[in-house]
Amino acid sequence: MPTRTVRLNGKTVQADYESAGSDSSPSSEQLLYWLRNRQGQHGPRFGCGIAQCGACTVLLDGAATRSCVRQMHTVPDQADIRTLDGLTDGAEPHPLQRAFVSLQAAQCGFCVNGMVMGSLGWLESRIAAGNQAVPTEQEIKDFLSGAAPDNTRNYLCRCGTHTRIVAAIRTAAKEMLG
Ligand code: FES
Ligand code: FES
Repeated sequence: MPTRTVRLNGKTVQADYESAGSDSSPSSEQLLYWLRNRQGQHGPRFGCGIAQCGACTVLLDGAATRSCVRQMHTVPDQADIRTLDGLTDGAEPHPLQRAFVSLQAAQCGFCVNGMVMGSLGWLESRIAAGNQAVPTEQEIKDFLSGAAPDNTRNYLCRCGTHTRIVAAIRTAAKEMLG
């Protein structure tokens, strides 16, 4: 079984994974299955399985990544993977988690992993680029629809709670920006 070493929520993990295909056409287990089935990470969800909804989002070296279509052999050795399960040390919720709960942004909750992890990656990349402004409602809508200049992937909520999700992301951004 092929293996590599990655950082998963701050811990070094030996990542054994199933592989198929050939040298010229490699294929392997998806990152989503590796996380859920081998590492007990149940934050990322299987929604569509074809990179369309965002429910499986994790941060891979800081970038929001659709783990349902990311095969393990393409994950770099020493990659840094962050999941919803490891967002905090358990003592205090992250501002995004707090805002989603306080504003009751979830209905069934299935999309929430993607909403939280996707917006976390987006907000952190804005801050790292020196943008200290709280995103406007329109910027957040553009982010969720994949129309933002710094994000081309959309995030779907099949229950249609987008209005509250936008409010939760904006509330969390204010807290993150202090
Ligand atoms: S499950 Fe991966 S994008 Fe929908
Ligand atoms: S709350 Fe049900 S899919 Fe978003």
